[in-house]
Amino acid sequence: MDTKFAAELPGGPPPRTRRARWPIALAGLALGAFVISSGRRVASDTAVCPQESPLVPEKNGALWTELTALHATDEFLMRAVGQLSAAVQIPTETFDAMGPVGEDERWVSRGSFVEHLATAFPLVHATLELQKVNTYGLIYTWQGSDASLKPLMLMGHYDVVPVAPLSADQWTHPAYSGHFDGTFVWGRGSSDDKSGVIGILTSIEVLLEKKFAPTRTVVLSFGFDEEAGGYHGAGHLGPVLLERFGPDSFAIIVDEGAGYSENYGAIFAAPGIAEKGSVNVNVEVQTPGGHSSVPPEHTSIGMLAAMIVHLERNAPKAVLEVGTPAFQMAQCIGAHGPAMQPALKRAILHAGKSKKALQKAEALLLQDPMYKAMVGTTLAVDIVSGGVKSNALPEQALAVVNHRIATQSSVKATTSRDAELLMDLAAQFNLSVTAYGELLTAVGASAYGTLELSAPQTLEPAPITPSDTPAFRLLAGTIRTAFQTARKDAQETIFVTPGMMTGNTDTRFNWALSQHIFRYGHGNMISGGLGGIHTVNEHILAASFVEMITFFTTLILNVDESAL
Ligand SMILES: *[C@@H]1O[C@H](CO)[C@@H](O)[C@H](O)[C@H]1NC(C)=O
Ligand SMILES: [Zn+2]
Repeated sequence: MDTKFAAELPGGPPPRTRRARWPIALAGLALGAFVISSGRRVASDTAVCPQESPLVPEKNGALWTELTALHATDEFLMRAVGQLSAAVQIPTETFDAMGPVGEDERWVSRGSFVEHLATAFPLVHATLELQKVNTYGLIYTWQGSDASLKPLMLMGHYDVVPVAPLSADQWTHPAYSGHFDGTFVWGRGSSDDKSGVIGILTSIEVLLEKKFAPTRTVVLSFGFDEEAGGYHGAGHLGPVLLERFGPDSFAIIVDEGAGYSENYGAIFAAPGIAEKGSVNVNVEVQTPGGHSSVPPEHTSIGMLAAMIVHLERNAPKAVLEVGTPAFQMAQCIGAHGPAMQPALKRAILHAGKSKKALQKAEALLLQDPMYKAMVGTTLAVDIVSGGVKSNALPEQALAVVNHRIATQSSVKATTSRDAELLMDLAAQFNLSVTAYGELLTAVGASAYGTLELSAPQTLEPAPITPSDTPAFRLLAGTIRTAFQTARKDAQETIFVTPGMMTGNTDTRFNWALSQHIFRYGHGNMISGGLGGIHTVNEHILAASFVEMITFFTTLILNVDESAL
């Protein structure tokens, strides 16, 4: 993923010592969740966020039993580890602003990786049709026997975040060693997202060894520059897939996403049904230059500074709205997380029906900066520049304001809001205003200077995947099965909630292909099962990687026999 992997559940993934990151939660922990001041008990609310039963393949039940028994063996763990380790050892680093494929030499590392896949997964390459897009983008098609069924799509990306040269010696095991220490596989990409790509391919290779032939077509789409926005990889794959398969042609799409983690005393998986949008608004002030011995009251830098202060003081407010993905997630955790502070639990469980409860829940939940960032449109002034010489009036000053747009908002609402906020100041400073190519105030030639707003790159919030659907229920049941299969003797259970992420994935290029897009990786984020994503010492618990393979295998079989 392109930004913090960690953001996906409020409070998760906490290190063991900090069970929940909402400060408010800590007060509730000691008391236990079931006691409230009046002495009434707040039981787990099953009417809110009802849970699917684990879903086990029936038609292919015998095969599934055989495969999960295989997954449980040491031999299979070593095989899976070997596959992942080999993939990690081929660096496929993505840098910002890389040139086109064929021109920028840094893409070439992908060639070795693609060649490696062909030898590492012989049955996949003998059976599935492989289409290469923009040289390194990979579409594998596993043709099903019934062409009338909408296919399943599994996505992933095989590029990785670069290893910062200065941090190379902070890695316990070299970043591209793929070292297996008997418990963990270490190295850049071991989790994000070679575990996804190799997990999918290993699942299919084994299914082919067992002579499984799908009824429903399975399509794999692997990008190669997700870590820099996916423009060269998924950005080319998306249109090709749309051309080949048409709009709304996939039953379900699953791409990388957060794994499962502990929140308020229960384990939750949160398949992403939403992604925030984003936009950078450039705020540029231009004024006449001149010698600074005879200065005006405000230079362009002073004006810009006033504008920045005004924008920050009037940053969009996060508002918790009933039915939004962030709301659904908080409610589900409230319904099933026993350690949630009683006041918050009560408030969030009633927030759907009571305005007062909603306000209370909002006040409590938004104390957590992570949750607040999930709910609202954010504003961060990330770049500022202006002026060239200490004795010359600056003719130009520029600020870049980065917004991550709330799921229920839009690019237009966000950019217009900035423009409206700055109109009064612009008038005060005698600036004519051009916003996003449109002249808003035509003080024109009589103005002292200009304020120009522009937003060259925008991303709308993703369409929200509905969660009251057979596709969501199938995924939820599959997650619960994979989780339980991997820990037969334990009492632990997993709850599945609709989730969302603060970052983006390659799915942004595939919105037209399906209404049922999920970002979910089934990685174990409890007790350090995976970590170091985008930083030093990236690693994954080998057992967790095998569990991901069980997840993909179960998903493929469940979708194959479903009525989706
Ligand atoms: C705006 O600036 C222009 C150009 O410097 C000047 O002629 C005009 O009087 C100014 N208007 C106001 C209201 O200050
Ligand atoms: Zn990723």
